[in-house]
Amino acid sequence: MISFRGYDDVIKRVYDNNQEHVFASWDRLGPGQRESLLKDLADVDFGLMKKLFTAAGAPSHGSYRPAPFIPLPKTPAEHEKFRKAAALGEELIRGGKIAAFIVAGGQGSRLGYEGPKGKFPVGPVSGKTLFRLHGEKILASGRRYGVAIPWFVMTSHANHRETVEYFESEKYFGLDPRDVFVFPQNMIPSLDEKGRLILESECGVFKNPDGHGGSLSALRTSGALDEMKSRGITVISYFQVDNPLVKIIDPVFIGFHRDAGADISSKALRKAYAEEKVGVFVQYADNTLGIVEYSDMPQEKINERDPGGELLYSSGNPAIHLFGREFIERITSSDLSLPYHTAKKKIAAHGGGEITGYKFEKFVFDALSMTDRNVILEVLREEEFAPVKNASGADSLETCIKLMDGLHRQWLGARGAKISPKTRIVEISPLYALGADDIPAGLALPERESVLLEAEVR
Ligand code: UTP
Repeated sequence: MISFRGYDDVIKRVYDNNQEHVFASWDRLGPGQRESLLKDLADVDFGLMKKLFTAAGAPSHGSYRPAPFIPLPKTPAEHEKFRKAAALGEELIRGGKIAAFIVAGGQGSRLGYEGPKGKFPVGPVSGKTLFRLHGEKILASGRRYGVAIPWFVMTSHANHRETVEYFESEKYFGLDPRDVFVFPQNMIPSLDEKGRLILESECGVFKNPDGHGGSLSALRTSGALDEMKSRGITVISYFQVDNPLVKIIDPVFIGFHRDAGADISSKALRKAYAEEKVGVFVQYADNTLGIVEYSDMPQEKINERDPGGELLYSSGNPAIHLFGREFIERITSSDLSLPYHTAKKKIAAHGGGEITGYKFEKFVFDALSMTDRNVILEVLREEEFAPVKNASGADSLETCIKLMDGLHRQWLGARGAKISPKTRIVEISPLYALGADDIPAGLALPERESVLLEAEVR
């Protein structure tokens, strides 16, 4: 057995768990490299890794039915309920009770963009990045309600520094830096097909971010929950980095959440078609709520229809949630940890070649099963969802730009603005308008190929 002053207990743990292959290059390493490898190994929870390897697979809850949700309003009474929810939500926003929380720790491998995904430019005319669009929305919402809305930004070790530098160089998109908190999530080792640790270098263990579900424990360990508490925040508005249409501060959603005393509220989109690859909201036999991923749903359920011919499992998950701060405090202070899901993936290991291994991730929606009260609110896809996931095809920059252009044209149309047939593309800055109601009636637009409405245009 090798030895190193101050680390003998770590070394013993490595041998006890049959992971001594990580010391294969020990003789070639200098003292600094040896110490950094041991430091990495000191953080490994070998008991957890063993459990994850033997249990590899998604946790299952058994039989389920579609989860109930609040549908889009149709009757006058329903519209009245939505108006009341909006008034309640606005009161909470004005009272400074809401924090924005973005998860941006993912690796964005499908998009294939080098660097943090939030730096990816998506503004159809402006070329504004995802981070800038989100930042400007938070700024505009703060101005509208006369309150500073704090923004919590979760990164991962791989993109933390670059994200912080970007926020600094962009002057926090006009926000007060004291209202922006950037912190990295935790990492977890991957394993090869035999359950062994993988090295990413001679002196480093291969780890990946612990999934968007890792955001809940990261809120606690980073001190973000304490910061929220000291600011009087009661509701955390959770969203993902890759959806530029997300309504980050939505009074209607917040109002329904508060009215129900919900632990978590979630937005839902009608599935566009049965085979659409989105997770759907379900209720299990014990009445707990969850999401079943498309890939885990049997074909007959995917196609099942109600007596009216509508898809039975139709409420898709766009990953937009509100969390009660106290609920997150409760579930992160006990052993009620979220389960890990396993994915078999190609991993670029030290020494060249790719190997097949297991990555472990937590999913944020697993927290739904821990709620006592929750709300699922149906929203319109074309108003709130335009994710950039892939380099081309579905959910790519191309589809995202089309959706942004379409929504902004719709806002202008609703306010009687005439758009020239010459105009190919329209973009409205969040600083100009957060919705149709912010646009002056009968606006005259320039006859240009591309039109950008920025705050100064007003
Ligand atoms: P995705 O599931 O789309 O993963 O993340 P991804 O890593 O961005 O992209 P691929 O799968 O490698 O192509 C959805 C959201 O969750 C965040 C992402 O940043 C994105 O906002 N996320 C994901 C994290 O913050 N941490 C993670 O460990 C994983």
